Amino acid sequence: MTAIAVFVGSIRKQSINQRLARAVEALAGKRFEFSYVDIGGLPHYNEDLWSDPPESVQTLKRTIEASDGVLFVTPEYNRSIPGILKNAIDWGSRPTGKSSWIGKPSAIMGASPGAVGTAVAQSHLRNTLLVLDVVLMGQPEAYLQLKPDAIADDLTIADDHLRILLERQLDAFEAWIGRVRRWHG
Ligand code: FNR
Repeated sequence: MTAIAVFVGSIRKQSINQRLARAVEALAGKRFEFSYVDIGGLPHYNEDLWSDPPESVQTLKRTIEASDGVLFVTPEYNRSIPGILKNAIDWGSRPTGKSSWIGKPSAIMGASPGAVGTAVAQSHLRNTLLVLDVVLMGQPEAYLQLKPDAIADDLTIADDHLRILLERQLDAFEAWIGRVRRWHG
């Protein structure tokens, strides 16, 4: 099974992005095994902590490094990504020379109740991931305008268009991971 490290940029209980990630996991079935990274448990980035790295940081790095691919599911905060997600990405990028991100096949999706559908946040995220040598899937993009009830409590998706879009995203990501593997031998 393909191991996916999942970063969700919202830690609130009723998060539509948390729900979206769980729905995508359910759609993926046995193809992918999702490991959710606890970004809320990380300290604020502080170079001093590398002398005795917190367990949460070690777990984050281990989860990225053990994964076949990384999926980001993020809201947009003030036309960028939430600080809590940036903090997690920064932890994964250090210590110098020991970034966990290099060469990782990755994909982004994000949901907002607003019409922008996280497009600006995703654009910022792409910039950051590019610098880290993450191997980011360019297409298809997933800018989702979701009302809170778009995904039911049992994770069923009533809207056929949304379900088909997410299935295509999963198919493309699986193919992307395979392609990156072949490139890197
Ligand atoms: C928002 N929201 C928001 N939405 C958007 O489309 N573009 C934006 O720039 C912002 N900015 C923003 C800033 C802050 C601080 C908050 C708390 C919210 C609204 C946001 O999309 C909405 O609250 C989502 O429901 C947040 O995602 P989760 O927590 O439901 O996953």
